[in-house]
Amino acid sequence: MAAGIDDIALYIPRLFVDSADFARARGLDPAKLKTGLGISKMAIVDANQDPACLAANACLKLMQKNKIAPKDIGRLYVATESALDESKALNSYVIGMLEQVYGTDSFEHCGGIECKFACVSGSYALYDNCNWIRAGEAEGKSAIVVVSDIAKYDLGSAGEYTQGAGSIAMLLNDSPRLLQFDSKVTSTSIKNEYDFYRPFGKETPIVHGQYSNLLYLIQVKKAFESYKKKALESKLIKLKEGETILDHIDYLCMHLPYSTMGKKALAYLLRREWRHLPRWKQIVEQTGMDEPAPRNPRGTIESILADDEYMGKDHEFTRLFTKTKEFQQFYDDKLASSLVASAMIGNLYTASLYLGLRSCLEFEFQKGVDLEGKRIGFGSYGSGSSAMVFSGVIQPAYRELVKDMNIEAEIGQRRKLSLEEYEEIHENRRGPHQSLLEAKKEFVLVNVEKSPESRGERKYAFYD
Ligand code: COA
Repeated sequence: MAAGIDDIALYIPRLFVDSADFARARGLDPAKLKTGLGISKMAIVDANQDPACLAANACLKLMQKNKIAPKDIGRLYVATESALDESKALNSYVIGMLEQVYGTDSFEHCGGIECKFACVSGSYALYDNCNWIRAGEAEGKSAIVVVSDIAKYDLGSAGEYTQGAGSIAMLLNDSPRLLQFDSKVTSTSIKNEYDFYRPFGKETPIVHGQYSNLLYLIQVKKAFESYKKKALESKLIKLKEGETILDHIDYLCMHLPYSTMGKKALAYLLRREWRHLPRWKQIVEQTGMDEPAPRNPRGTIESILADDEYMGKDHEFTRLFTKTKEFQQFYDDKLASSLVASAMIGNLYTASLYLGLRSCLEFEFQKGVDLEGKRIGFGSYGSGSSAMVFSGVIQPAYRELVKDMNIEAEIGQRRKLSLEEYEEIHENRRGPHQSLLEAKKEFVLVNVEKSPESRGERKYAFYD
């Protein structure tokens, strides 16, 4: 049985920090953020927003747009790494909010849980829910997977300029209008790691930034090797002499903690795919240097990162490689459109990959490309650490959905924060009743109980 994404809706907070203002305030070169990391704006939550109300807002948009009633939804899963409680799942808060609109107990039989594995958990949630549909358990109902996060790092840290916030809700069913997932090729890799983690009670993560960058590349590559094997064995993709499987994937959507990470990941994968093909000789010639190899290719990530000579040469080779016409062509044709929204919004953790998908669809459509039948490959990564690689094909009915996609219009009028306002929100110096924006047709947080017997109970309201 088929399964995939029927429609997709997003909710992005309307407050933002401008990356150039931010860079100046922190004594950084604005070009480092704009060009080096590909960040123009970082969406920031207001004082009355949390990951639950972002998720409920994305969900409500999806349901209203598609005129879906709660009885038509068999499962509602929320994937996040911004959990509000060690026990109570985020989907329960979302259902509570949606029932304010659809009526008490209207979601009574809608199953679901909160999923956690850093930024990759949304992909696991999609996969599991698609398998629920494929197994025939859905009985004509749809599933909704919501990815919702607030990417928040310590003030003054290297992660601070890769923040962002937002949520994406995806409607899944057995006759998807947007994207049908390829079955039996989804592949994973996993390893116990501490590249990025958030111990109990800590609001911001502990991050080993460069380690996490390299681990992301290695884990996605490992999952991709397994995907390749499955795609070839199942004959989903057939290769001719001198081809790589990436020649048969029309678009790539990668996990995007910041937009240039997509380019880094593409360069890493392409170097390893093209290295064995006849085309490589001509590509290396354009770089004017030999491709470097680490002193100990089987060494640990730490030993590779500590090999300064290799890291320097490898960085230079990657820089030159990304300037070759073959790389540029691949990048422009298959990746660039997916990076546009990330630069406008920032890091959405679990939702970053799906913001990339949304961006790819909107900006490729704007180019006038016929997307029907095009295969999208996904590289999902979550610290801690696991990667998932999978693919899907754009369906004939995509036009009716994609023609109206407009991320800027969907976010609505945005308000730029001063650095003082941003820091006030960041340091939680404003309560839910001191929001900067007035709520419009959305759920907001109105209270968090402080009394010992109900500590942590959260109340939300819908403002029409
Ligand atoms: N002008 C233009 N580009 C500049 C620049 C300048 N003045 N200064 C630096 N850059 C470029 C660097 O060359 C680099 O790009 P490259 O890797 O393509 O060469 C990029 O900007 C980032 O610089 P770098 O020094 O590597 O950044 P950093 O040490 O400040 O940290 C992260 C970057 C992503 C590691 C950090 O923000 C972080 O820890 N983020 C959170 C964790 C994360 O997102 N991990 C990703 C995997 S999940």
